[in-house]
Amino acid sequence: MPETNMDLDQAAGLRRMMMKNENKPSGRLATSSWTGTKVITVTSGKGGVGKSTVSVNLAMALSEMGKKVLLFDADLGLANINVLLGVVPKYNLYHVIKKNKTLKDIIIHTPAGVDIVAGASGYSILADLPEEDRREVIKAFDSLKGYDVMIIDTGAGVGQNVTAFTLPADEVVVVTTPEPTSITDAYGIIKSIVLLAPDKDIKLLVNRAGSAIEGKRVIERIANISNQFLNVKVEGLGFIFDDEFVIRSVRQQKPFYLAYPKSKASGCVRVVAGRLAGTEVPLNQSAGGGLGSFFKKLFSKPVNEAE
Ligand SMILES: Nc1ncnc2c1ncn2[C@@H]1O[C@H](COP(=O)(O)OP(=O)(O)OP(=O)(O)O)[C@@H](O)[C@H]1O
Ligand SMILES: [Mg+2]
Repeated sequence: MPETNMDLDQAAGLRRMMMKNENKPSGRLATSSWTGTKVITVTSGKGGVGKSTVSVNLAMALSEMGKKVLLFDADLGLANINVLLGVVPKYNLYHVIKKNKTLKDIIIHTPAGVDIVAGASGYSILADLPEEDRREVIKAFDSLKGYDVMIIDTGAGVGQNVTAFTLPADEVVVVTTPEPTSITDAYGIIKSIVLLAPDKDIKLLVNRAGSAIEGKRVIERIANISNQFLNVKVEGLGFIFDDEFVIRSVRQQKPFYLAYPKSKASGCVRVVAGRLAGTEVPLNQSAGGGLGSFFKKLFSKPVNEAE
């Protein structure tokens, strides 16, 4: 589909869903054409644009579509995944690295079928782990089987940890709002990724859009400047409406996709998840060798600190 029509297509898709009253959980669909585990890293230039909200709710939607989803909380900031879900992880990757727990012990299973793993709070920069600890991480993730997708929620900006999680991913979803500062910073993070990995599959998601047209314009603007100045094709993934129900659900510590499945934002998430589910991963990029291979790549990439 031509990228420029994408957000209007998304709006048309949403209207069709409303008419058919299909915007409610539809059970597990047979959409899986992926091999191995597809790794999707969610990031942004500016903070607070909705990365964690998007990660959690996309995970719920992909799970509803029949994907087995692991949500990795790589951002151990304040408004992170466990806060959004109202769960308190007792253990995290640090306990696995130190061999006090296995990865399976620390995974939190949610009723919606999405599993969650919290990053290592003992280390602010995972990429800086000593060799022995790196081996433990790779071994632990190698033992995990059966996930169709791992979604990684990162912090904002071009810090080492963010870049480390972005480079070995199959797909990177850059989240921006329509705010000019957020747009500028989205371009900034795209630039940093492209400088280190020119072929990276980068997709743009506009969160808190006031309208489909606004979402479309923001995508066009960023895609155009990326094309012009970086010579890369950044693909639009769609938009999510600015929606009061999102704010309400955050206060209730429940994903809006589950608490308010008929909200405008949930309709958007369903469309965006459908697009992600429909994307094939080229075999040479896929972490088809298991999740351990993702971390192997993560540790082997030279990472630059912010430009
Ligand atoms: N589509 C939306 N509509 C309305 N409000 C939203 C929407 N998406 C996010 N928000 C609001 O923005 C707040 C910040 O979102 P979130 O914590 O997901 O951002 P973040 O990018 O993960 O932040 P950080 O950079 O601190 O990790 C949420 O608490 C919520 O109130
Ligand atoms: Mg966050």
